[in-house]
Amino acid sequence: MFFASDNWAGASQPIMDALARHNDGYSPAYGGDPLTDQITQKFRDIFETDCDVWMVATGTAANALSLSCATGPGGAVFCHKEAHIRVDECGAPEFLSSGARMWGLEGRHCKLTPDSIKNGFEEIPQGVVHHGMANAISLSQATEAGTAYSVKEIEAMSDLAKSRELALHMDGARFANALVSLDCTPAEMTWKAGVDMLSFGATKNGAWAAEAVVFFNKQLGKNFEYRRKRAGHLFSKMRFAAAQFDGYFKDDHWLANARHANTMASNLIAGIQKSKKAQLAWDSQSNEVFVYLPTDLAAKLETAGAAFHEWPENTLAEEDKPQDGFGLYRLVCSYRTTDQDVDQFLDFLKD
Ligand SMILES: Cc1ncc(COP(=O)(O)O)c(C=O)c1O
Repeated sequence: MFFASDNWAGASQPIMDALARHNDGYSPAYGGDPLTDQITQKFRDIFETDCDVWMVATGTAANALSLSCATGPGGAVFCHKEAHIRVDECGAPEFLSSGARMWGLEGRHCKLTPDSIKNGFEEIPQGVVHHGMANAISLSQATEAGTAYSVKEIEAMSDLAKSRELALHMDGARFANALVSLDCTPAEMTWKAGVDMLSFGATKNGAWAAEAVVFFNKQLGKNFEYRRKRAGHLFSKMRFAAAQFDGYFKDDHWLANARHANTMASNLIAGIQKSKKAQLAWDSQSNEVFVYLPTDLAAKLETAGAAFHEWPENTLAEEDKPQDGFGLYRLVCSYRTTDQDVDQFLDFLKD
């Protein structure tokens, strides 16, 4: 019953096979290898556009380095107050952008709304030097609460971004989970809706350590190569990052993995909805489920070997806080979650 994080699952077999397949012999270093070119082209095919693609090892690097391209002196990035870039990256986006602030805004279930952005516009008005200058909006897709922005919602964010000449960034650590849930194309969920740059995650969905920064607005990413090298993310054996993407994309493995994780999450949701002991906190459009459980039941589950995290109450809106005797818990499914994991967990929620 491993629901602590999708990061807890090892790398999937097709990705391990791809690493082994591309291990033979010699190949030019630092991304000069044919496989890196091939994968870059594969990204262009998948996104149906001539984007620039740079591979890195972590989501934090992808986010921090891409945002550094959009921010200037006194810069700020509008994001949700619970966004990974703001609370879970140890200041890397601020550090690598020479001090741009991750400007946290309100929004239910980790989703920004046009009103949240309008509040941001009031908090950092244009032309007031003391407040600095907003440079970007960052959306997590899927969000930290398992919700997802619809294409229309992304378009609305893009309109607001354009109205103030801000870049639109997408933190796609769980891009595939949101994509299969929305049932749209990668192009529709990104550049066609106005996204300028994307942190494309693969690690949570079966890779070993592979993320990519995708620039649809190539002008924004023109210095990225230098930023990546300076931050220590230009691998000498880049072909192994590319190899992971080779396994990831082959036969749509990435989509199958995400569908599986989302299905497991839907099965958990269905079981929780039937339970009299537990209550679904809010609906999910990805592989993360949030549930209220009596704290003694949560302890029992943990003793039985279930791994999951309690969600900090102080981050929640008043209406989402658990009742006395209950806690809010996050259950994350992955490509490796089994029916047995789900059934075993749900057995504890039965009368
Ligand atoms: C929303 C989100 N963005 C980015 C990341 C990437 O983090 P890492 O640097 O650990 O790969 C994570 C990982 O938990 C995440 O949940």
